[in-house]
Amino acid sequence: MNRRKFIKNTALTGAGLTLGNSLMGCDEKTSEKTKNTIINSENGSKTSLPLVIATWHVKEATAKAMEVLQAGGNVLDAVEQGCMVEEANENGQSVGKGGLPDRDGNVTLDACIMDKNGNCGAVAYLQDITHAVSVARKVMEDTPHVMLAGEGAKQFAISQGFEPEDLLTETSKKEWEEWKVEAKYKPIINIENHDTIGMLAIDKNGDISGACTTSGLAYKMGGRVGDSPIIGSGLFVDNEIGAAVATGLGEEVVKTVGSFLVVELMRQGKSPQEACEEAIGRIVNKPNSNYKDFQVGYIAVNKKGETGSYSIHQWFSMTKFQNGVNEQIQSDFFNKS
Ligand code: GLY
Repeated sequence: MNRRKFIKNTALTGAGLTLGNSLMGCDEKTSEKTKNTIINSENGSKTSLPLVIATWHVKEATAKAMEVLQAGGNVLDAVEQGCMVEEANENGQSVGKGGLPDRDGNVTLDACIMDKNGNCGAVAYLQDITHAVSVARKVMEDTPHVMLAGEGAKQFAISQGFEPEDLLTETSKKEWEEWKVEAKYKPIINIENHDTIGMLAIDKNGDISGACTTSGLAYKMGGRVGDSPIIGSGLFVDNEIGAAVATGLGEEVVKTVGSFLVVELMRQGKSPQEACEEAIGRIVNKPNSNYKDFQVGYIAVNKKGETGSYSIHQWFSMTKFQNGVNEQIQSDFFNKS
């Protein structure tokens, strides 16, 4: 099921929506044939590096990231270039060019990126620039800041050579105009138009980077910023432990600092799967949680190359590229009622 079909098929309604030494207890060897690093965990399971995971069904994006890694490229380049594939895909209406606009018809992008050294960069409410993730990387590498927003982010991007362009495609414009017929001008969430591309990668040395990019909630209020540019909420990488990235209703992710929480739970000994499940639990177990009206999903990877994914509702998936296999994996989920 691709992201768009998820959107159509979901039953939810409502308004709204250096490996080596740091890998304690693992024995590793490098296969000459594949040049992958094979990790034998204490429990007998094996994982292989490099690996790439991403939210949703984005095999072209994970393939691009793996191509970079297999060519010996930098893991930060891998996640950036992987996310760029989806940003340029005009058929994806939740990321980059072709993203659905806010209620005033403006496409506004949020993105962030984080490297193995804990450096990070982000852009929020960026307009007219397709590759928000690359601007986020420029913020990280070429400014003394972590986040630029709005017109300042756009002017910075232009100063760095990014070409401004209209991100509102005919398809998205038409859907926005249809939405306007019954537009409800209140800050409610519509899960039917909502998801983010987040990508995490580990190179064959065990170094981790991550990135995420989104056009955010469709028909949001002007000025709204979600979780995706907020380090610790939409994305967190700790090269000693692992990394996590979120998709879904950003407001709920921000309130629980979700990605940082997942990484900290892994630090305390939880597997990536257990950590994702507990982070979803923090949302759905809140008093008076209205989780039936929105989706949140997490994916995570730890330093051993073990992965996990979990969401509130069905139809969230993770794309995983490891050991020559690029596959979509349906996520387990909380709401089975
Ligand atoms: N998770 C993306 C957003 O809420 O904008």
